[in-house]
Amino acid sequence: MEIACPVCKKPLHKEAGCYKCENRHSFDIAKEGYLNLNLRNSQNTGDNPEMIKARKNFLEKGYYDFLKDKVNELLNEDETLLDLACGEGYYTMDFKCKDKVGIDLSKSGLKIASKNDKGTLYILSSIFRCPLSDESADKVITIFAPIAKDEIKRILKKDGTFILVKPDVRHLFELKQALYDEPYLNEVEDIPIEGMHIEKHIPVSDKALLSKEDLHNLFMMTPYYNTTSQNDKQKLEVIDELEVGFCFVIDLYRFDQQLSV
Ligand SMILES: C[S@@+](CC[C@H](N)C(=O)[O-])C[C@H]1O[C@@H](n2cnc3c(N)ncnc32)[C@H](O)[C@@H]1O
Repeated sequence: MEIACPVCKKPLHKEAGCYKCENRHSFDIAKEGYLNLNLRNSQNTGDNPEMIKARKNFLEKGYYDFLKDKVNELLNEDETLLDLACGEGYYTMDFKCKDKVGIDLSKSGLKIASKNDKGTLYILSSIFRCPLSDESADKVITIFAPIAKDEIKRILKKDGTFILVKPDVRHLFELKQALYDEPYLNEVEDIPIEGMHIEKHIPVSDKALLSKEDLHNLFMMTPYYNTTSQNDKQKLEVIDELEVGFCFVIDLYRFDQQLSV
C-alpha cells in the first residue's frame, strides 16, 4: 500500500530506520517498529495504557476469535488492507492479507501491535487524516471505532469493500442487566455513507462464561465504563462469574454503481 507523506502527500519510501519522500521529509521508525506520522499535537491521544491493557487481557483469552475468523473469511491473501483504529492490533495481526497497514492514535496500542506483529506497518496518525495515497486499499476495516467516512472513500479502490464491525442489539445485554436497574437494548441502525451502499449485513454471535477479572476487563473496553455511576459499577464487584452474549454485525459497504455517460 502506498504511504503518503503527511506534509506534501508524495509517496514515502522506507530507508534505514526511517521513511522519506522525494522532498526529503523524513520520519523515524520508533524502536518498537511503528511509524509516527502524526504531525499534530491533538488532544485525542487514543486509548490510554489502562484501556489497552484491559482490552489486550480480555481479547487474548480468545472470546472474540469467532468474530476475527468471520472477518478473515471476507479477506483474500493478495489484497491490501487498511485497519482504521487498530488499537493494539489484536485483529490486524491475524488478518490474512499480506499487505496490511494499521492506524491508531494510541502510542501504547501501537507499541504492542508493532512488537507482536512484524507483518503489518503500524502508523501513529489520526484516522481522519490518513497518510495513505488515494485508491490504495482493496479493503478498509473499522472495528468498534469512529468511522472516517471521507478518508475511507478516498483510500478505497473503486471496486473495494469497506468492512464495518459494530455491536448488535443484544451485545453485552447480560452485563447491562447486572449493572443497571433498567437495562436497555442497543439501538442499531445502518450508518449511511454517501456514494456507498451496504451490500450485506452479517450477524455473528457467541457467548461465554466470564470470570470476575474478565468482566472487569470487558467493562473497561466498553463506553459504559465512563458513563456508569459509581453505585452501579460496584454491582460488578460482587459477581464471581456471569454468562455474557457477544453479538455483532459486520456490514459490507461497496461504492454505488458509477453511471456511464
Ligand atoms: C474501541 S477501540 C477499538 C480498537 C480495535 N479496532 C479493536 O477492536 O480491538 C477504539 C480505538 O480507536 C482509536 N481512536 C480513537 N479515535 C481515533 C482517531 N481519531 N484516530 C485514530 N485512532 C483513534 C483508539 O485509540 C482505540 O484504539
